[in-house]
Amino acid sequence: MPKLIVVTREGEEREIMGEAGLSVMEVIRDAGIDELLALCGGCCSCATCHVHVDPEFVAKLPKMSADEDDLLDSSADRNATSRLSCQVAFTEDLDGLKVTIAAED
Ligand code: FES
Repeated sequence: MPKLIVVTREGEEREIMGEAGLSVMEVIRDAGIDELLALCGGCCSCATCHVHVDPEFVAKLPKMSADEDDLLDSSADRNATSRLSCQVAFTEDLDGLKVTIAAED
């Protein structure tokens, strides 16, 4: 099982063993970290699953769709490493991935 490191808004670092094949959002949600609201359930329409990805991993992630890009534009906390975690499949390749939950809009 690949490892995911999540930094919460309070700066607490949590290590989670995630199931490959789930989305990063699902791995975070299943670990009980409920500050990641993920209100739309992963259908790329709410942006409440916004995370900042460790720069080291950005190039390993699947390319962002135009819909994800548009939604991220609605967030004041967007930066160069922003992704919607429901749009990133968690795979063995991403073992050690570190993400920080973005500020609430
Ligand atoms: S859960 Fe709504 S966009 Fe990701």
